[in-house]
Amino acid sequence: MADQPEIDRLTGQKTTGHQWDGIKELNTPLPKWWLYVFYASILFSLVYVVLYPAIPTLTGYTRGILGYDQRVQLEASLAEQAAARAQYIDRIAASDLADIQSDAELATFALAGGQTAFADNCVPCHGLGGAGQDGGYPSLADDDWLWGGTLDDIHQTLQVGIRADHPQTRTSMMPAYGVLNMLDEGQIADIAHHVLTLAGDAAEDAEAAARGAEVYNIQCAACHAADGAGNTLLGAPALNDRIWLYGGTHEEIAAQIYEPRHGVMPAWGRLGDDAIKMLTLYVHNLGGGE
Ligand code: HEC
Ligand code: HEC
Repeated sequence: MADQPEIDRLTGQKTTGHQWDGIKELNTPLPKWWLYVFYASILFSLVYVVLYPAIPTLTGYTRGILGYDQRVQLEASLAEQAAARAQYIDRIAASDLADIQSDAELATFALAGGQTAFADNCVPCHGLGGAGQDGGYPSLADDDWLWGGTLDDIHQTLQVGIRADHPQTRTSMMPAYGVLNMLDEGQIADIAHHVLTLAGDAAEDAEAAARGAEVYNIQCAACHAADGAGNTLLGAPALNDRIWLYGGTHEEIAAQIYEPRHGVMPAWGRLGDDAIKMLTLYVHNLGGGE
C-alpha cells in the first residue's frame, strides 16, 4: 500500500511512502561517495573495453583500439631474451675458457649456466655446491685434485670422464694387491700404518710402519709419490693431506689396498661443448680452481 512520501517524525528522514501495518519504510539514499565511485567504475570499464582487449567473441576477443596484448608482449620479451641468450652462447662457443673467465659479463652468464647444469647433473654424486660425499665422490670445492684443477684439466675430466666408456677416458688402475695376492695381509697392514704416517701423524705401530715404508716405496711410490703427494697425471690421490675418498682409518686404508674401488665418473660430452665449458668454469670457481 502506498502513501505519499512524508517526513518521519522520529528520524527526521523522508519515507518512501511504502507502509505495512503502520510500519513505514525510510528512504535512505546511498552515500554520495559510494555513488561517485560506482559511476566512476562504470565509466572506467567503458573506457577499458574500448581501449583494451575485453569481450570474448565466437572466434577470439575484441582487441581494443590500443592494440595492447599481453600474449604478444610475452612472446616479444621471450624472443628478446632468447636473442640475448643466443648471443652469449655464441660468444661462449667462440671463446676459450680463459677468455670467458676474464670477461666479467660472459663469466657471469657462464657461471649461472654452469650452476644450473651442475644442479641437474652433478649434485647427486658430488653434493650441493660440490661438497663431495663419502664413498669416493670427491669434493670439487677444495684445492685437492685427483686429475688436476686447472681449467684445462677440469674440462678434460668432464669431456672424457674417469674410467668411463669414452675412448680417451681418464684411466689408471691401482692394482688390487690383496685380491691378486701381490701382497699378503700382514704387508698390507704394515703399509696402511705407513700411509697413516704420511700426513705427519705419529705411527700407531712404528715397527709396522717402518716395514710398510719399504714396501710402499717399491709398490706405491710410483703413483702416490714417496712423500704421498700423489700424481694428478695418474689420478693418484694425495695420501698426505688427510682428505680421503674412501676413509682414513687403518682398516679403510687396508681395504683400499686389498681391493681398490676404481671410482667411475661418466663422460659428459652429451651435454654439449657449451655446457661443458660453463660447467668447467663453475667447478673451477667453486673455490679450489688452480
Ligand atoms: C655417478 C656419479 C657422478 C656424477 C653424476 C658426476 N661425477 Fe664427477 N666424479 C665422480 C667420481 C666417482 C669421481 C672420482 C673418480 C676417481 O676416483 O678418480 C669424480 C670426479 C670428478 C672430477 C675430478 C675431481 C678431481 O679431483 O680431479 C670432476 C672435476 C668432476 N667429477 C666433476 C663433475 C661434474 C661437473 C659433474 C656433472 C656434470 C659430475 N662430476 C658428475 C662421480 C660422479
Ligand atoms: C698405478 C698407480 C697406483 C699404484 C701403483 C697405487 N695406487 Fe693407490 N690409488 C691409485 C688411484 C688411481 C687411486 C684412486 C682410487 C681408485 O682408483 O680406487 C688410488 C687410491 C688409493 C687410496 C685411497 C685414497 C683415498 O683418498 O681414500 C689409498 C689409501 C691408496 N691408493 C694407497 C696405495 C698404496 C698403499 C699403494 C701401494 C701398495 C698404492 N696405492 C698403489 C693409484 C695407484
